[in-house]
Amino acid sequence: MFQRIMAGFERIVILTGAGISAESGIDTFRAAGGLWEQHWVEDIATPEGFARDPDLVLGFYDMRRAALARAAPNPAHEALALLEREFSGDLLLVTQNVDDLHERGGSAQVLHMHGELKSALCTSCETRVRWDAPMLAKDGDRPPCPACCAVGLRPDVVWFGEMPYEMDRIYGALQTCDLFVSIGTSGVVYPAAGFVEEVRAAGAWCLELNLDPSDGLRCFHESRLGPASILVSQWIDEVLAH
Ligand code: OAD
Repeated sequence: MFQRIMAGFERIVILTGAGISAESGIDTFRAAGGLWEQHWVEDIATPEGFARDPDLVLGFYDMRRAALARAAPNPAHEALALLEREFSGDLLLVTQNVDDLHERGGSAQVLHMHGELKSALCTSCETRVRWDAPMLAKDGDRPPCPACCAVGLRPDVVWFGEMPYEMDRIYGALQTCDLFVSIGTSGVVYPAAGFVEEVRAAGAWCLELNLDPSDGLRCFHESRLGPASILVSQWIDEVLAH
């Protein structure tokens, strides 16, 4: 596949997925032994699963929040933060990840389209609050909502069948960007999986940085395969060199 010199771009949209956090020790979803091999998606990532067995769902996200506390950002997260600081054009970083490794790596502006592990959503009053603690106590007790006191908090993550966050802002940026970069995502979950087709139709250059070719490979002008910790830093060095 031919490569373009990474110069002259003014509006960049970056989409990240679980692969960017893999080298930080966070499980991806679809790898052998990944989260969706260990758990039934229908049980723990749908509103129906939560209605059936809330304790199972809360326990699953408590486990992921605890794993996140043991993880640290890797050079790919840090390189994206450097790009945010140094790039003189418009940059939008959109992540499907619910971890906070972009922020801890130094990025200040991150759109979490699938929500965040460290946020809780009240099913009664719909308040979103920062949340670090377990949502299920050892004795099975559940904490009340700090705003309305109802006992009905759930993880503030987007489940299958729910609308991702910030879609208007994301589609607006996709329509006008001149470079779209997809990092560490298998490209199978919509709407994010469809971003590359949108931006390609709108005329942007499309670059993929991933360990394995994604489902959307044919839509990218250029695909670089390898670990994010190396590829992302290399690509950002190219962008900032011009
Ligand atoms: P997946 O698990 O589907 O895909 C992870 C991608 O990261 C794969 O294409 C891997 O090849 C790549 N990868 C793994 N290690 C990597 C590394 N070190 N460097 C670079 N790439 C690496 O995860 P996502 O595509 O993020 O949604 O999954 C999308 C959505 O599906 C998630 O946000 C989640 C899930 O169901 C919801 O829960 C709503």
